[in-house]
This record gives sequence, C-alpha cells and structure tokens, in this order.
Amino acid sequence: MESLVELRDVSVTFKMGGLRKRTQVHALSDLSLCLFEHEILAVVGESGCGKSTLGRVVLGLIRPTSGEVLYMDENIWKMKWKRSQRSHSTGQIVHQDSYAALNPMRTVYQTLSAPLIHYGVRRGKSKEEVCNLLKFVGVMPPGYFLNKYPHHLSGGQRQRIVFARSIIPKPKFIVADEPVSMIDASLRLSILDLMMKLNDEMSIAFLYITHDLATARYIARRGRIAVIYLGRIIEMGKLDDVFQRPLHPYFQALLTAAPIPDPRLARKKKVLPLKSMELPSAENLPSGCSFHPRCSYAEEICTTERPILKKESGDHWVACHKVGRIPSWNHI
Ligand SMILES: Nc1ncnc2c1ncn2[C@@H]1O[C@H](COP(=O)(O)OP(=O)(O)OP(=O)(O)O)[C@@H](O)[C@H]1O
Ligand SMILES: [Mg+2]
Repeated sequence: MESLVELRDVSVTFKMGGLRKRTQVHALSDLSLCLFEHEILAVVGESGCGKSTLGRVVLGLIRPTSGEVLYMDENIWKMKWKRSQRSHSTGQIVHQDSYAALNPMRTVYQTLSAPLIHYGVRRGKSKEEVCNLLKFVGVMPPGYFLNKYPHHLSGGQRQRIVFARSIIPKPKFIVADEPVSMIDASLRLSILDLMMKLNDEMSIAFLYITHDLATARYIARRGRIAVIYLGRIIEMGKLDDVFQRPLHPYFQALLTAAPIPDPRLARKKKVLPLKSMELPSAENLPSGCSFHPRCSYAEEICTTERPILKKESGDHWVACHKVGRIPSWNHI
C-alpha cells in the first residue's frame, strides 16, 4: 500500500504563559506514523493526549515544532505555496460538532451547491447533483431536505451533510475527529457505516480519532489502531492483533476499564490496577517512559530511559521496556 501521509519524528510544543511564553505544553513528542491509501486507522487515547493535534498536523493545519510531514513522499512544509494548497485539498476534516461546522443561515442546498459549483458542476445541474449527494450519504428523500436549515435537522442528519460536503473535493483522506461523540448512541453505528461506505466506494482513507474503544473497534475492524499516551504512540498494529493480544500495560488497563454489557461476564472481569488514575500534565512530562508513574510493572529502567516503539510480531508495535515480561491480560 502507498503511503498518503507520513509523519516522521513529529513533535508539537505549544508555548503558553503570556508574553514570556515560559510554559511549554508537549502535545506530541517524536511521533512517527503512516496513513496508507484506502485504510482506516483509528487513533485512541485519553483526553488531552494529543489526538486532535495529531489530526491537525496530518492535515497540514499545524506546523510541527520539529520533524517532517510528507504527502506522497513530499515534505508539505517545503512545497511551493500553490502546490501545498493543492496537497491540502487531498485531505478533509470532520469534527464532532456538526452544528458548529454548518452555517446556520444556509440551507442544505446552499451549503452543498456552492462547493459543487466551485469544483466544476454547472449551475443548471447543481440541484440534481445536490440530490445525488444527499442520496449517497443517506439523507432521504433529498427533495424534502433541500430547503431545510441546520436547526431543522437531527444531529445524525447534520453530520451526514458535513460528510457530503467533505467528499465534494474528492479527498484522498478524511480526518474524522470524534465525529460520533455528539450523536445519539442509537445513530452512531449508522454514521460509522457511512464512513465505511465512503472508504469502500470512494477509496477514501480515514484517520478516525476517538477516546471510545468500542467505536474504534467497530470502524477499524479491517484496519489498524494506534494508541496514544501523552503525545506518543505506545502501541500500534492491525486492530484484531492489538485487541486480542494487548501488550502495553496502558492499553491493557484501558481495555479492562471498558464496560461490558453482560453482568455475568462483568462480575468475572479483572481490573488491571493502576498506581494512579491521574494523567500527568503535558507541561511536565515524566522522565523515561511517560506511563511509569501509573504503571504497576515499572522498574528502574522505566524511570530513566524512554522506550522506543519496536516491532513485536507481524505489524504489531509496542513501546515498553517490559514487554514479554508482564502477564498477558485476558480482558474477555
Ligand atoms: N492551540 C493550543 N495552544 C496551547 N495548548 C494547546 C493547543 N492545542 C492543544 N493544546 C494542548 O495540547 C495538549 C493536547 O491537546 P489535544 O487537543 O490534541 O488533545 P486531545 O487528545 O484531542 O484531547 P480531547 O480528547 O479532549 O479532544 C493538551 O494539553 C492541550 O491543552
Ligand atoms: Mg480532541
């Protein structure tokens, strides 16, 4: 598979604290990652671990403090302006808040026809094309919705319109940043199914950002998952491998914390002990392995040396000094 976007040793540091800018927030640290053509890559992690920053770096919206961002093997931050503008349109973003993403003063027709005309559809054909697009994303019957405003639509319908708009430039990839977290649980799967349809039928790759393991597992079941902890990838690989044989104590803890609907299984479930429930601050990262203050298996080396992401088997990568020396964890 061809790589669409590649991050090489990317770090992003935000300087805070007014004019003196004394405080530094390390949102991403030496992170390397590839998004391949046509794949679905789920990025999971706790709030504040750097997921949205990663999404914005992938889209070229944030310039990394250090490291490289390559679009099809070319460094986007070294391209000529016009070329980089064209490269930028190969990626689109969909956020969690569809209400904020749509102009409340514009009807569905106005929202979708303007970009269609911009990308070459004739004015006379625009109504037909908007209807086709609405059908494709499952807003039916299209004629009924053409003159509706965002406040007339449900959250799920609004998010479908946002996806419809995002596919007009025929992007090669979409960064979907928590796209279903504001949607009613009963409708979440249908929006995830829409993303899988766009992946299947239009070959659009997805970087699916979430803190929710269940939706990551659903959408990336044929794809990959990257688990982030304090701005670093700690485990990555084919989704099935990573879920069936979680190797990093942090990911094992995340899995044991996920609720199980069956009460009998839930009673049997063991919970992996963490030394602390608190996520350390990104302003003051722990030395060595960032997870060591919370890890029950941490030993001397973990407090001094940062573990690098190493291949354990096949396409399964993990960054932990103690991998292979901690009990395997059956999370059911
Ligand atoms: N523009 C900014 N200026 C200063 N700090 C920022 C900025 N954007 C993000 N940060 C900080 O960088 C860290 C990572 O933020 P980010 O939004 O990427 O996390 P996240 O994983 O997306 O969190 P959430 O799940 O809550 O959306 C946080 O500590 C955040 O406060
Ligand atoms: Mg975020």
